[in-house]
Amino acid sequence: MLGEQLVLFRMRDGQVGALANRCAHRNLALSRGKVSADGLSCAYHGWTYDPSGTCVHVPAACNGCSPQARPRVRSYPVCEKQGLVWVYLSAKGEEPEGEPLDFPFHGQSRWQHWFMERVFEGDAFNCAENFLDCPHTNHVHKGLFRTENTRENEVEITSGQDWVQAEFLNEKRMDTLLGRILCPKGGKMRHTDRFILPYVTRVEYRTHETRHFVVMSQCTPIGDDQTRVFTYMAFRFDGWGPLLRLFYQPFAHRVLDQDVEVIRWQTEDIRRFGSRSFVFHESDAIAREMHALVSGRSLEGKESRRKKIRF
Ligand code: FES
Ligand SMILES: [Fe+2]
Repeated sequence: MLGEQLVLFRMRDGQVGALANRCAHRNLALSRGKVSADGLSCAYHGWTYDPSGTCVHVPAACNGCSPQARPRVRSYPVCEKQGLVWVYLSAKGEEPEGEPLDFPFHGQSRWQHWFMERVFEGDAFNCAENFLDCPHTNHVHKGLFRTENTRENEVEITSGQDWVQAEFLNEKRMDTLLGRILCPKGGKMRHTDRFILPYVTRVEYRTHETRHFVVMSQCTPIGDDQTRVFTYMAFRFDGWGPLLRLFYQPFAHRVLDQDVEVIRWQTEDIRRFGSRSFVFHESDAIAREMHALVSGRSLEGKESRRKKIRF
């Protein structure tokens, strides 16, 4: 994560540790090791580290590992929540403020959910933008999500200190099988796209009290041009959730793979050009605001505004 090499392990009592992935002794990656009763044991000489990063066992030492002179590796604060392990990469070892964001409707009755994980060859901004960008769906996901038949959509943009949201006010259902399933004929769709620092996206479609879809992606930068994305998919759909999932889950994976490919193309092409040079256009919905947020500007107090976009 963010250029740091990490190893995560779970103790037999369930406790999770996140350490710098480098043995203090001769620098073997600790991820080559194994979990023993005392902690994570290095594959080379068996030095064993507990979740605080302290070496608690040196097998070759006759007097054990004296508590005064215990070698250490760096450890990171971890938090386990809703089935994910979160690691906090502080600059100077500070503890995180607050908790990671909640995944909405997680574990609620009548709701289905699952996680998808992909490594994108692209930076976190390009990924997050893609997840909230409607106009690409007519091209990259043609026939699957939307078609080339575009329509005018009115969008209201609101924002706060660390977030920006687009709400589509008159969106009609898509002309695809997905559209027909999502939205009853003549029904209204409530669609919102939200970006929250740092690199969290949340897309929501609600067509009826009992038909509601949420897609939330967490972009974790691996390095400058690589991002690991965890996507949380949750939905409820009348009484047909488990059945719809048989169709919806492979569909979601296919859509995601199309995005993985287009982001890889984008990164390869920008690399060939040497640098990026983007035009932020009115039709980009909230990309300009997202760029302001990731550049460290707050959108607190900014007036909401409306515009029209075709997709
Ligand atoms: S390199 Fe890890 S114990 Fe020697
Ligand atoms: Fe997409």
